[in-house]
Amino acid sequence: MDSKILRTLSYGLYAVGVEGESYPSACIVNTVFQVTSSPITIAVSINHDNYSNERIKATGKFSVSVLSEDTSGTVIGALGFSSGRTSDKLANVNYKVLRENVPVLRENICCWFLCKVINSVETMTHTIFIAEVKAGSDNYSGKPMTYDYYRRIIKGRAPKNAPTYREGDDKGDNSPQLKYVCPICRFAYKDSEHTIPFDQLPDDWRCPICGVSKKEFRIEG
Ligand SMILES: Cc1cc2nc3c(=O)[nH]c(=O)nc-3n(C[C@H](O)[C@H](O)[C@H](O)COP(=O)(O)O)c2cc1C
Repeated sequence: MDSKILRTLSYGLYAVGVEGESYPSACIVNTVFQVTSSPITIAVSINHDNYSNERIKATGKFSVSVLSEDTSGTVIGALGFSSGRTSDKLANVNYKVLRENVPVLRENICCWFLCKVINSVETMTHTIFIAEVKAGSDNYSGKPMTYDYYRRIIKGRAPKNAPTYREGDDKGDNSPQLKYVCPICRFAYKDSEHTIPFDQLPDDWRCPICGVSKKEFRIEG
């Protein structure tokens, strides 16, 4: 079997907020799904190495912000490609902290909800947290971003800690064509796909996925 057939599974994209030790933190996941409706429970799969995993185990709670299609790539980059263990990932993100001390995003989300862990299952690499939804937005707006939209339209990638990662995912586009590649998230800028050639982009242009500056892009191909 070729594991690429698993690409046919559909997912959304979410920011999981946690109470950090020094400041609130969050990470990107695509693995939230509803388990039951009464009571409302959901599950999420989080890598053992992620700071968010450690904090959910320590506090027994987390939030889920449902990202919308207009969520900026830089938010996904900031929360999905670095660890809250070593940096204040929410420093440049608009968020609020709930009474329960977990953060939820304020902009470009469809809704949020607050979750209390009721059970967990360990796999070799990830913990599946099962949680009861205790509170949430009164309403929702916008169009939820799907993982497929993130990959095909935003041309984003997933790092090794994402459960859906496949060997080579983080290598980005391997075609022999000349391209400018982001050293963090492997977003590839090919002149043939844009009206402005990479060289002519303004100096303050940044990677649309993770916000790395233009001068750090590397030529490949
Ligand atoms: C599109 C995308 C989907 C991701 N999905 C998951 C996921 O479902 N589970 C997971 O553990 N990590 C996932 N990640 C990776 C984490 O967001 C990433 O490892 C993050 O740096 C963890 O941060 P933390 O150490 O602060 O928890 C995903 C990342 C991206 C960009």
